[in-house]
Amino acid sequence: MSVTPFAPSDAAALHAIATEAHPVDHGGPLLLDRESFTAGLTHAAEGERVDTLVVRDETGRIAGYTTVTTWTRDNTHLAEISGAVLPSLRRRGHGRALVDAARAHVAELGRRTLVVETKNPVGDGPGDPGATAMFTALGWDEVLNENYYRLDVTSFDPQIWEKERLHAWQKATGYDLVTWADGLAGPMPTELADGIAALLGRFQSDMPTGGLAVEDMDYDAARVIADVEHAGRLGRTVVNAVVRHTATGEVAGWTKLSFKRGSEDTASQGITMVAAAHRGHRLGMVLKTENLNYARSLYPGLATVLTDNAADNTYMIAVNEAMGFTLHQRSSVFQTELASREER
Ligand SMILES: CC(C)(COP(=O)(O)OP(=O)(O)OC[C@H]1O[C@@H](n2cnc3c(N)ncnc32)[C@H](O)[C@@H]1OP(=O)(O)O)[C@@H](O)C(=O)NCCC(=O)NCCS
Repeated sequence: MSVTPFAPSDAAALHAIATEAHPVDHGGPLLLDRESFTAGLTHAAEGERVDTLVVRDETGRIAGYTTVTTWTRDNTHLAEISGAVLPSLRRRGHGRALVDAARAHVAELGRRTLVVETKNPVGDGPGDPGATAMFTALGWDEVLNENYYRLDVTSFDPQIWEKERLHAWQKATGYDLVTWADGLAGPMPTELADGIAALLGRFQSDMPTGGLAVEDMDYDAARVIADVEHAGRLGRTVVNAVVRHTATGEVAGWTKLSFKRGSEDTASQGITMVAAAHRGHRLGMVLKTENLNYARSLYPGLATVLTDNAADNTYMIAVNEAMGFTLHQRSSVFQTELASREER
């Protein structure tokens, strides 16, 4: 068994592994073509670094991979790993070899805290209990749980969203809405980028993060715009809604839905944030229902929306459940510190 840094000639094998593993571990097909998938293994967003490691068995066949994400502008103590071993080659030591190699790599980069998220089935749904078993066996600490939800847009009654949307606006007087789609209906309005940067700068403090050792992110308008460009390079269109406090023009909240170009029947609900000073006006529900309506006007074939929240984020879970999202998977976030000065 050997672990080596990713080389472009590994791309086809890694995409094949991800394509086979995705329905088992996450449910549904992998929506990324080889080009977009490979871009995610090698191209980092502004303020990030991504390295990929590849494990081969004794015959030289590629059995799995892990990506190691580190941050350069903030959270410089932290590294996050993710990846997969081909389902038919699991429980043969490849995962352990990848984790060992990732630890050494992270030590070389001078980081000290490692984080990974594993997916646990609900009932007979998708997920990999083996991953949770592995990080438990390795002695990592479980510091956070996430719930993963799915909304079947085709079978849900739009009258229910409409009722929720109108009810939410009754409490949201004094706010106005802006929607746009990066790369489709125009770029991000630049006057909003500063407000979104301010929201993102508070994201880690404002959302429930359990025992995760995360710090606030260092965001400015340029990094927000760089994120948009990065999403475009990964083949994504991002559909956004912002609520502004009308009297001051301040950005009070933001939400986004991400679409993979060519697979517009599925959207991933990204960040939804409302600034602390503007909470209590049902802006979370305004944002999510308005953005869903806007996304459906752009993509009438939208059938499924995926989202996840910290398991103790009761407000956002209540919003999701009122909108018809149903639980389909849970996750465990594990964390460990590099053991010694030598390992660091
Ligand atoms: C997590 C994952 C990478 C592990 O890869 P793997 O090659 O199967 O792992 P290993 O064979 O090295 O297992 C290492 C240890 O983990 C534990 N483990 C792994 N799978 C297990 C299972 N199904 N049941 C119980 N324990 C398990 C065992 O302690 C095992 O050691 P042992 O076989 O000596 O008892 C693989 O299960 C996977 O691809 N999962 C889906 C993707 C994922 O969750 N990625 C996130 C982690 S990067």
